[in-house]
Amino acid sequence: MRTYRSLRYLGAVALAGAAAASLAAPAGKEIYQGTCIACHGANGKGVLPGVPDFTSAKSPLKAPDAVVLKRIKQGYQSPGSPMAMPPKGGSPSLTDADLKAVLAYLRKSFER
Ligand code: HEC
Repeated sequence: MRTYRSLRYLGAVALAGAAAASLAAPAGKEIYQGTCIACHGANGKGVLPGVPDFTSAKSPLKAPDAVVLKRIKQGYQSPGSPMAMPPKGGSPSLTDADLKAVLAYLRKSFER
């Protein structure tokens, strides 16, 4: 009986922890929809000239996490590109954890 009770308690603590974590760090999807979608589009194909198609065979998502995260964080412009990716998509308050979450969302949603 005791064991059962303490397991229930642990479960409640874990649930509360998960809720707190999701409050502190918005999910990748919310970040994408709040910050990135204006240029990258709901389907990840890009809505402005110079924005890469995340779903194409030449998607920049083919690069390793470390490379892609650095470019999201610091901004990026490839040679000859008409437009630059702004650092953190123009939302300076995004944390490293937020950027990881949004990259996971990009991979899950658009990578082929
Ligand atoms: C103001 C428009 C704009 C916004 C907002 C924006 N991007 Fe971009 N992004 C670009 C453009 C333009 C490029 C292509 C830059 C180039 O190749 O010169 C790009 C490129 C990228 C790349 C590919 C980089 C590479 O390795 O070639 C990733 C990944 C990316 N953006 C992720 C994001 C994420 C995540 C967000 C939201 C947090 C975001 N972008 C918000 C315009 C934007």
